[in-house]
Amino acid sequence: MTNERKATLTVEGEQPVDFPILTPTHGNECIDIRALVGKMGYFTYDSGYLSTASCKSTITYIDGDKGELLYRGYPIEQLADQCNFLEVAYLLKNGELPNPSQKTEFEKAIRTHTMVHEQLIRFYQGFRRDAHPMAVMVGVVGALSAFYHEAADFSDAEHRTLSFYRLIAKLPTIIAMAYKYNTGEPFMYPRDDLSYTANFMHMMFGTPCATYQPNPVLVHALDTIFTLHADHEQNASTSTVRLSGSSGANPFACIAAGIACLWGPAHGGANEACLKMLEEIGDVSRVGEYIKRAKDKNDSFKLMGFGHRVYKNFDPRAKLMRKVCNDVLSELGLENDRLFKLAKELERIALEDEYFIEKKLYPNVDFYSGIVQKAIGIPTTMFTCIFALARTAGWVAQWEEMITDPEYKIGRPRQLYIGAARRNVAPLDKRA
Ligand code: CMC
Repeated sequence: MTNERKATLTVEGEQPVDFPILTPTHGNECIDIRALVGKMGYFTYDSGYLSTASCKSTITYIDGDKGELLYRGYPIEQLADQCNFLEVAYLLKNGELPNPSQKTEFEKAIRTHTMVHEQLIRFYQGFRRDAHPMAVMVGVVGALSAFYHEAADFSDAEHRTLSFYRLIAKLPTIIAMAYKYNTGEPFMYPRDDLSYTANFMHMMFGTPCATYQPNPVLVHALDTIFTLHADHEQNASTSTVRLSGSSGANPFACIAAGIACLWGPAHGGANEACLKMLEEIGDVSRVGEYIKRAKDKNDSFKLMGFGHRVYKNFDPRAKLMRKVCNDVLSELGLENDRLFKLAKELERIALEDEYFIEKKLYPNVDFYSGIVQKAIGIPTTMFTCIFALARTAGWVAQWEEMITDPEYKIGRPRQLYIGAARRNVAPLDKRA
């Protein structure tokens, strides 16, 4: 992994110092500057982590220029086509896809953990009915850390695996309960006879009055959304989970921290923000006006669902999601729906516009996933919860990778202090 070549840092008036170069399986080589402060007394400054690899990882690889996304080496296109979300979750955690007996065993383990402790149901009553479901999620998922004391030795692989099962199994139940609490309908218990995703739809859309029949096209669409959102290397929420977990904190609390970070509109909140934007635009005739605003440097408005920090040619997840989007709209006969026609027009104009082409701003996965979820009947405020459900698979895999890494240390960035220089406190009557 360490390259023959070295990087030499020369600071004017000082002796040059060599640093090792690390070679990855794919992607950019990294200059290992861990010894920099010891050898030279400098920190590096990289606000926003534009040039910083915060860890070594074997889980996910993204090539932003090629538009490539690999989970454990497998292209996302093949995983979306040939595997379901649970197989992908297994892959992220274990490094390999399950064989048939491992798959059966894993599905059984997940089914065993789908119910939540009855005591947890009372937590919901503490929230306002109109609370944002992500606010409820932060609280309820964090509260899981108060329930499982018997498996809280995270140096034990079995305890870690049990936490993984619990999180993957209970997130759909917790999310569906947040939805039911908001609508005032009764909570639905999970059903063992349904697949993971069909069961989630049952808990969301079913009622005790009738047996819910999930539509296979919609189940497949939602399962694909889960697969496409399952991991995305060291994004903001995953880095949050890693940083919180690096202190040895409880994984349920760390996942709650990840959920809090994901909520922001520049990250997982983009699909919700995108739908709100479409509602605000309202009609195809106003698309031009909004495109103009997005290009205006003096206007803070951005086209939500467009652009990505890493993908600068196209987002491979968006390509897959676009197809799912068309399948769902045609299954539901919604091709001519006002909002969906508007979204398609926005996509068309933005893809042809010089500003967007030049800045490499393409529709990202959240542009299409919001439209699909809306068509399925998932309310806009729940979109980021769906993202959180899926990303939990990646978060737990990344957390486990970190705490089992022999080089693992608590995350502790330094800073470039630009505040007041040292000064003395003046007596109260002498202060300006
Ligand atoms: N609409 C209009 N202009 C944009 C947009 C947009 N959506 N995104 C970026 N730009 C402009 C930006 O103003 C800047 O212009 P200039 O060079 O004149 O200053 C240029 O493009 C580069 O943008 P940036 O903000 O420096 O790029 P970034 O890598 O820091 O930000 C982003 C990436 C995703 C935060 C940003 O594109 C954005 O806010 N997009 C809308 C929100 C969104 O859809 N987020 C979901 C991301 S996908 C889900 C996930 O993986 O979390």
